[in-house]
Amino acid sequence: MSYIIAPSILSADFANLQRDCEMINNSSADWFHVDIMDGMFVPNISFGFPVLKAIHKYAKKPLDVHLMIVDPDRYAQQFKDAGATTLTVHYEACNHLHRSIQNIKNLGMKAGVAINPHTSANLLEDVIKDIDLICVMSVNPGFGGQKFIENTYSKIKQLNELKKKHNSNALIEIDGGVDLNNYKKLIECGANVLVAGNTVFASSNPTDTIQQLKTL
Ligand code: DX5
Ligand code: ZN
Repeated sequence: MSYIIAPSILSADFANLQRDCEMINNSSADWFHVDIMDGMFVPNISFGFPVLKAIHKYAKKPLDVHLMIVDPDRYAQQFKDAGATTLTVHYEACNHLHRSIQNIKNLGMKAGVAINPHTSANLLEDVIKDIDLICVMSVNPGFGGQKFIENTYSKIKQLNELKKKHNSNALIEIDGGVDLNNYKKLIECGANVLVAGNTVFASSNPTDTIQQLKTL
């Protein structure tokens, strides 16, 4: 079973960003997960374009950019210019989600939609065919190092049913609280991408931890 590991830069050492990017480059990780927070959609501010561009300068793997911002359409072009491969917007932050998705794809990026823990998987029914990635929030967004929400397992199963029904190829990504105790179960339930911040960067050997997360 092949799946993607995306270490989350939010937990990296920002004073040693180049070093941490190179660690990911030289590890068995597949993507860089990059969290953008605006202090409005979520109660935290992470970083913006200058930092994203600095990551892009050193990253040799795709940038999976997760926008936790209100009205994300305003910045889609700038995220493309800053190096985003996949651009994920929140279901809860878009009044015209279909338009936002088309806009991202027209700019030449892969389009993702994230759903908060309280948002039902079924609400993606009318767009699941159009998107490349579904980001299932397994914590309330805003911070790294939070506790995994158990309801996520059944959400993954529901999303896989929905994908089958609509013949969708969207990857199912799990974001928040992924660790060495739950990653196998998440893959067994049908997840395709695992984001890991704290589990990777707070470990004594991040490269080894990534390798462990890649091994079933
Ligand atoms: C949370 C972010 C996550 C976060 C995950 O709002 O979207 O990507 O970095 O961090 P961990 O793996 O530490 O829960
Ligand atoms: Zn994220």
